[in-house]
Amino acid sequence: MTEENRTDTPIEGVWSGLKGRPRSLNPKWFYDACGSALFDAITHQPEYYLTRCEREILEHQGADVARWIGPDMVLAELGPGNGEKAVLLLRQLRRLSAYVPIDISPASLEAAVDGIRQALPGIRVEALCRDFAEGVDWPQYLTSEPRCLAFFGSTIGNMEPKAAVRWLARLRARLRPGEKILLGVDLKKDPQLLHAAYNDAAGVTAAFNLNALSHLNHAIGTDFNPDWFIHQAGYNPDQGRVEMYLQATCDQVVHVGQHVLRLERGERIHTENSYKYTLEELLRLTESAGFATDRVWLDRQRWFSLHGLRA
Ligand code: TRP
Repeated sequence: MTEENRTDTPIEGVWSGLKGRPRSLNPKWFYDACGSALFDAITHQPEYYLTRCEREILEHQGADVARWIGPDMVLAELGPGNGEKAVLLLRQLRRLSAYVPIDISPASLEAAVDGIRQALPGIRVEALCRDFAEGVDWPQYLTSEPRCLAFFGSTIGNMEPKAAVRWLARLRARLRPGEKILLGVDLKKDPQLLHAAYNDAAGVTAAFNLNALSHLNHAIGTDFNPDWFIHQAGYNPDQGRVEMYLQATCDQVVHVGQHVLRLERGERIHTENSYKYTLEELLRLTESAGFATDRVWLDRQRWFSLHGLRA
């Protein structure tokens, strides 16, 4: 193997993050079967208001959102989960052309398709197995009707703001003028509420974060002991983001392929950011990606926002 393609192997990719300063781990390692189940459990925790608020918007203002989307559209959803948010919206949409769940994982796509088919048997569903992080290359048969892309769950907040602009601009480049994006974004609020959301009392977010280490052990043969780490999540007001770490609780040695990682007690591995925005910040962000904001919907507490953007 040549030097240049060494980060192409999973072990070298992981090592390059772990050896860096700050030490980091790509959040994609959260998601094995156990991680996906834990993530689903996070969305049901009482402190984790994001899902509840977004559902509230779709339940109480879904008819208005549906009117904004308009008739005879293709509704494509990036990362549909089990499809339950889409169901709330699809119930309100009359004369839909097709629902298109897009996900990199065939198993989650199947879950979404099953969820939709059960709840709404009459709807045309066309699943697309794609890594939407790369932007979406649309098959020809999905370009005849105008499209609305739904991106729920404040997943945009897990990108760096500059990367979010680039990513949105790339989506925009493949849309026609007037086509739409429905974007769910978590808002800045009392840091105590943010802190609680990512430190639920039942310890589900902690288990989710720690599960990345077990996943690595199974997937690439590292020998992390998850018992020697704790979950840490806190709001960084300067950066406007919740930062998540795994912190070593003792001095330890971990093997990553041929590499040896020495961690001292208290050292941290950064795993994820969750950026929070004000409405003004988000307006500017989407504008720099070339979108016009048509509409903004909020939950009653004004904790979460749904943005109707037009290309
Ligand atoms: N985008 C959501 C959020 O930032 C969900 C999420 C992504 C999440 N990664 C996470 C939640 C890690 C908890 C921990 O909240």
